[in-house]
Amino acid sequence: TDRPRVLSGIQPTAGSFHLGNYLGAVRQWVPLQETHDAYYSVVDLHAITVPQDPAALREATRLAAAQLLGAGVDPERCTLFVQSHVPEHAQLAWVLNCVTGFGEAARMTQFKDKSAKQGAESTTVGLFTYPILQAADILLYQTDQVPVGEDQRQHVELTRDVAARFNGRFGELFRLPNAHILKDAAKIQDLQDPASKMSKSGSSAKGIVWLLDPPKTSAKKFRSAVTDTGTEVRYDPAEKPGLSNLLTVYAALSGLTVAELEAKYDGQLYGPLKTELAELFTEWVAPFQARTREFLDDPAELDRVLARGAAKARAVAAGTLARVHEAVGF
Ligand code: ADP
Ligand code: NA
Repeated sequence: TDRPRVLSGIQPTAGSFHLGNYLGAVRQWVPLQETHDAYYSVVDLHAITVPQDPAALREATRLAAAQLLGAGVDPERCTLFVQSHVPEHAQLAWVLNCVTGFGEAARMTQFKDKSAKQGAESTTVGLFTYPILQAADILLYQTDQVPVGEDQRQHVELTRDVAARFNGRFGELFRLPNAHILKDAAKIQDLQDPASKMSKSGSSAKGIVWLLDPPKTSAKKFRSAVTDTGTEVRYDPAEKPGLSNLLTVYAALSGLTVAELEAKYDGQLYGPLKTELAELFTEWVAPFQARTREFLDDPAELDRVLARGAAKARAVAAGTLARVHEAVGF
């Protein structure tokens, strides 16, 4: 295929994806598999950079894969695999560790933030080298574009720097990837605390919409979302953050523009918008849940899908790693 190659990863998380994960990341994976040669990975190696329960991790990995399939990721149209099934990721990461400067890695702002929160004694070296494992994920597949949010741009820059250094030292082996900042990726705020991003580590349980919750539970969360006391349906994130967040979700799920939604609700209070958004979400989530459950209820089929994906990924990854090993003198 002469399509540009993309690589995206998502960490397995306990329970289910939330609406922010879906609208901010996973949703974009579906159209990309039509236009790109897409490699999608559940990145369980990244997940152990913080303490994990083994049984919970195993379950979360399968759950993440099932939800990706439920969301429309199609293993016939892309390469979907679990990172730990492809040992070349860890192997290439070691080589890249040895061409990355300590100071260079220490400048990663995400590491600085996370390690500051955890404290030095509970921060693992794995968390420190996380961006280098991410570089390995990207470079193994000679990736052209890495679809990421703004917060990941620095890691893609590090990947380019390390790849260029490797190429300069050992011969032109790696393609230099570009960050592909997703323009349609919506940033979703907490429904109860619209000043904060919807996040699994967020504060309010009622503010997070989990995709595998009973649809009725989620519908209630939309209907009781925090909004201002105004009466005009208008997109204005500064003055009306809660309402604007609902409009963002509504637009993403309906395909209507925010302007079309403002026109639709012109002269109405917030109630009908919340009720209809709750209905729209329920209609969207039902088939997502049904498809996800199909894979969860048929573990053998999920295993087959993931084994085929790992084999496809390894066919590329092993070739890159062999050339790297040769180039460095193994
Ligand atoms: P969380 O913030 O809940 O810990 P992760 O950091 O695991 O979620 O993010 C997984 C993916 O989902 C990333 O691509 C991230 O950019 C995206 N994402 C997470 N929360 C949101 C959100 N509220 N809005 C948009 N995208 C989000
Ligand atoms: Na996060």
